[in-house]
Amino acid sequence: MATATIIDGKQFAARLRAGIAEQVARLKADHGLTPGLTVVLVGEDPASQIYVRNKERQAREAGMNSFEQRLPATVTQAELLARIARLNQDPAVHGILVQLPLPEQIDPEAVIQAIAVSKDVDGFHPVNAGLLAVGGNAMVPCTPLGCLILLKDRLGDLTGQRAVVLGRSNIVGKPMAALLLREHCTVTVAHSRTRDLADECRRADILVAAVGRPEMIQGDWIKPGATVIDVGINRLPTADGKGRLVGDVAFAAAVEVAGAITPVPGGVGPMTIACLLLNTLTATCRQHGLPAPEVRPTAA
Ligand code: GUN
Repeated sequence: MATATIIDGKQFAARLRAGIAEQVARLKADHGLTPGLTVVLVGEDPASQIYVRNKERQAREAGMNSFEQRLPATVTQAELLARIARLNQDPAVHGILVQLPLPEQIDPEAVIQAIAVSKDVDGFHPVNAGLLAVGGNAMVPCTPLGCLILLKDRLGDLTGQRAVVLGRSNIVGKPMAALLLREHCTVTVAHSRTRDLADECRRADILVAAVGRPEMIQGDWIKPGATVIDVGINRLPTADGKGRLVGDVAFAAAVEVAGAITPVPGGVGPMTIACLLLNTLTATCRQHGLPAPEVRPTAA
């Protein structure tokens, strides 16, 4: 049986970061501007510490300034909001990311809404979500943006494609659907209350899975030749205690049916940070009235 092309997100993200680094160097040479990204981490969650360190390292490797802000898990909401207000005013800071989840005494919505719309490189602020919905100049959430870039690289023009997005979160599902609609796809958003989920999936030329349930999407839910983007990162227990990462799609079965598929790990994950850097570059240009450069991944 035919097997799917495996979409190498890790390699693509590395090429995209190299393309971003070229534009960062140009911005410095032509305008004396260095994009600055501040990542705020509250508390000591081990997984968040790893994510944040990766974001900061990759920002520096792209030639950006990375400003690190660490706050104790006991910080009050007022203290965090005051910190964000200072970052909003700081001209060296073009992008602000507050790592989620936050401790329970802090309302994440209040924090997201405190970030200046123009510095919201996560694209989580309701104004950016609204701009994306109405087709404006939004900061687009990093994970769906990474998925879209992979899809366009693989398929070119997406006009008329039937796309099914599994999951309706504010971070992935909803912005993914808005992006695909902007690309003239026919979009269905399916979720935990959807009737006949497998049937909905079988109609998809493009299937984006973002449900957070290990290997839920079975091989026979996939239309032969479809492009499958697996956003899930789920850790299954193993005998050695280290765990095994799997996506939302049953990969071994899906790879026999799909036309192309992203693996987990090494698919969508690396694209998320590359798109954070892309958003930081875009935010820097917009804040200085410059057109956002067209970033191309460097040659393979
Ligand atoms: N925690 C897990 N993923 C993300 C993300 O994309 N942005 C933020 N701010 N926190 C996260």
